[in-house]
Amino acid sequence: MENVNCENHFIFADCDTVELAKQFGTPLYVVSEEMIRERCSEIKESFLNKYKNVKAAYASKAFLTMAMCRIIEDEGLGLDVVSGGELYTAIKAGFPTENIMFHGNNKAWEELELAVKSNVGRIIVDNLYELDLLEEIAKQQNRKMKILFRVTPGIKGETHEYIVTGQKDSKFGIPLEQIYEVVRRTMDSESIDLMGFHFHLGSQLFENHIYKAGVEVITKLVKDLKEELGFITRELNAGGGFGIRYTSQDEPKPLHYFTDAIMEAVEKQCCQYNLEMPTIIIEPGRWVVGEAGITLYTVGSIKEIPGIRTYASIDGGLPDNPRPALYKAKYDAVVANKVNEEVSTTVTIAGKCCESGDILIWDLDTPLLTSGDILAVLSTGAYNFSMASNYNKLPKPAVVLINKGHTELIVERESYDHLLDREIIPSYLEKNR
Ligand code: LLP
Repeated sequence: MENVNCENHFIFADCDTVELAKQFGTPLYVVSEEMIRERCSEIKESFLNKYKNVKAAYASKAFLTMAMCRIIEDEGLGLDVVSGGELYTAIKAGFPTENIMFHGNNKAWEELELAVKSNVGRIIVDNLYELDLLEEIAKQQNRKMKILFRVTPGIKGETHEYIVTGQKDSKFGIPLEQIYEVVRRTMDSESIDLMGFHFHLGSQLFENHIYKAGVEVITKLVKDLKEELGFITRELNAGGGFGIRYTSQDEPKPLHYFTDAIMEAVEKQCCQYNLEMPTIIIEPGRWVVGEAGITLYTVGSIKEIPGIRTYASIDGGLPDNPRPALYKAKYDAVVANKVNEEVSTTVTIAGKCCESGDILIWDLDTPLLTSGDILAVLSTGAYNFSMASNYNKLPKPAVVLINKGHTELIVERESYDHLLDREIIPSYLEKNR
């Protein structure tokens, strides 16, 4: 193994992970700023600098903190947010709101109000109800909002069924047949400037052919809208979803495998239909941050059921990483303090929650484990911190950012008092005590 020092410790982003665990405690999310920036550079090299009239936004639902907003701003990318909370985080971090795209299938009045007030760059309108709300808010505030409509293209990606979104029977987006009606409605609106369309096919995808299929559906729509309504599409957003490596079973492709396919398909279709090339936007989340993060845990109880299985329990699990329980997601891990020791046993890594489904990794091959060992679970940068809960009243872990071997705490560990911060005992229950 390459990432190991003379003490046999696992090195991540030039830092000794055993030392990190000692310094910051476990469980601990560790994120490499350099790896995030490398991905951003790849977006520039293989997309932004390669093609004209293209944009990229980071889908912040994968991992969002104010520090992350600063990195994304510094890299010159846009930000995709999906709730008032994500939008508020970006605003508080001083992210330029004109580079924010606001998504979501059920945005509340207050969320839309905040978006209009702060003049976000694009609102991706998911349905007619939202269009009504937005028109009213924009009118009230005397603004004209630039929007895209999210379209359901009717294409099913090959991934876990909870993270496919492009199929016809989906809660996301406007069915193709209803697009004419909504476009017509916006064409003479004083408060809405319809720039174009958005589709997102799903997440953790490995094949580019479904993106091509998505482009074909959407450009046909663009052509029909031009011919039938005279509507000119200025922007197309092809979403995110590019797959990453969790285990050696995954074979991720470079970004250009997806973006070249998208651009080729758009160019071909526009040429065939005699359309102006619209601005093309992508919005990867997992691909930017997933492999840039690991989680450190301490091994506690080790239980051997003779002839059946050995369970090694860690000091976190489902609340800091719900993905195995939700999607049967697979992870790989290393014993951070025994990197070069011979692999001699197979253990199942169990979380500490009262749930039989709280198993982080089934059948992991490891050196002989002992309580107190530090386990580093890999590729936890996306949809771990952002999906964490306090189930069983477990405090959420801290997040440490590493930049050139230098560590910074960007989210403090929750304390027991944080857990009770918002709790109130009604006065009648205080009586007779
Ligand atoms: N754009 C839109 C409109 C989206 O809905 C999503 C993800 C993305 C972009 C970014 O997708 P990515 O590049 O990260 O795959 N919690 C799940 C993933 C849910 C993704 C939801 N939408 C998981 O842990 O696998």
